[in-house]
Amino acid sequence: MRLDTARLLETIQQFHQSDAIATLRVRIAAMQQQLRNGTHTLHAVDPSAAVVTFHRDYLIGELEQIAAAQTLERARYYLDRLARSVAEERTSAVNDINLNRWKEYEDIYTDSLWIEERRDKTGVHRAGYWGNFIPQIPYQMMRRYTKKGDWVLDAFAGAGTTLIEAQRLGRNSLGVELQPEVADHARHLIAAEPNAHNVVSAVVTGDSTGTDYRELLQRYGREAVQLVMLHPPYFDIIKFSDDARDLSNAASVAAFLALMGQVIDRVAPVLDRGRYLVLVIGDKYAQGEWIPLGFRTMDVVLQRGFLLKSIIVKNFEETTGKRNQKELWKYRALVGGFYIFKHEYIFVFKKR
Ligand SMILES: C[S@@+](CC[C@H](N)C(=O)[O-])C[C@H]1O[C@@H](n2cnc3c(N)ncnc32)[C@H](O)[C@@H]1O
Repeated sequence: MRLDTARLLETIQQFHQSDAIATLRVRIAAMQQQLRNGTHTLHAVDPSAAVVTFHRDYLIGELEQIAAAQTLERARYYLDRLARSVAEERTSAVNDINLNRWKEYEDIYTDSLWIEERRDKTGVHRAGYWGNFIPQIPYQMMRRYTKKGDWVLDAFAGAGTTLIEAQRLGRNSLGVELQPEVADHARHLIAAEPNAHNVVSAVVTGDSTGTDYRELLQRYGREAVQLVMLHPPYFDIIKFSDDARDLSNAASVAAFLALMGQVIDRVAPVLDRGRYLVLVIGDKYAQGEWIPLGFRTMDVVLQRGFLLKSIIVKNFEETTGKRNQKELWKYRALVGGFYIFKHEYIFVFKKR
């Protein structure tokens, strides 16, 4: 509903002036009824007047809470809060979430366990690139940790999921991808996605362990980014290319971690202080041993002085191949005394 801000505030003020909770409840019940059947007079009609948008059911729910208050004082406290949510926007330094209307952000996750039944396949998003992450990951991270117009750096761009999502959300983004043909594929997808906010979404071909990120940013007149997304190969679980610089071709876990250290050393200086770095990675299994690649890579970031803000555990979609072999995996797990991977991690760090 598009409502006239001044009229809504006036109505809240009239509610405030009720001299008894019973009177207030009657007034609120009448207003709820009018909101339900559309006969209220709060519609925004004057094009020059300030407008506030509300989901009808949300506003009715807020009124419900006010009417349920035990005392008039409590009801007035809720009315003041509602008035503030109409009149003022309160955002933090790192995102555009209006904290005065926090209850309405139903699509923003705040729990550390994510069970995603399906990937977002809207627009140009495709599951096609083996090893790409679900768009919900960059979507959630950018909603929580960036503002419109901010710059996002993805040092392992792959098929460009972060950049596609950034373009949709009005964030500028730069991606680095080692394989020229994969970078081209990403550029192709990004070009097919509408760019309503007219942002930069650029993929460069390069080795993220040796990229000069300052120079890259300078090409766009920037000195820093406000979010870094890192979704590296999970060491050798998927071999992405034959290129020796590819992290999936690292000689050992130790070599992989050393390369990740180089990436962090290069990206950290171009990330603004107080802003976030997100690492998406899973564990691996080799010669009868679970290798906690996620936590070991987390340590690499922590050793560089970052503050750990969250460890999110996300379910891992089975690949088609694995699904066909499900029975066999169960047998192997029973024989081998291990559990089959069904999760990966999203580590959220803040630069001090
Ligand atoms: C897990 S995938 C990232 C997928 C991406 N998040 C997406 O949704 O498409 C890792 C990517 O890192 C790339 N890569 C591996 N080593 C690299 C390096 N040294 N520099 C840049 N990219 C690299 C691989 O080619 C692969 O595309």
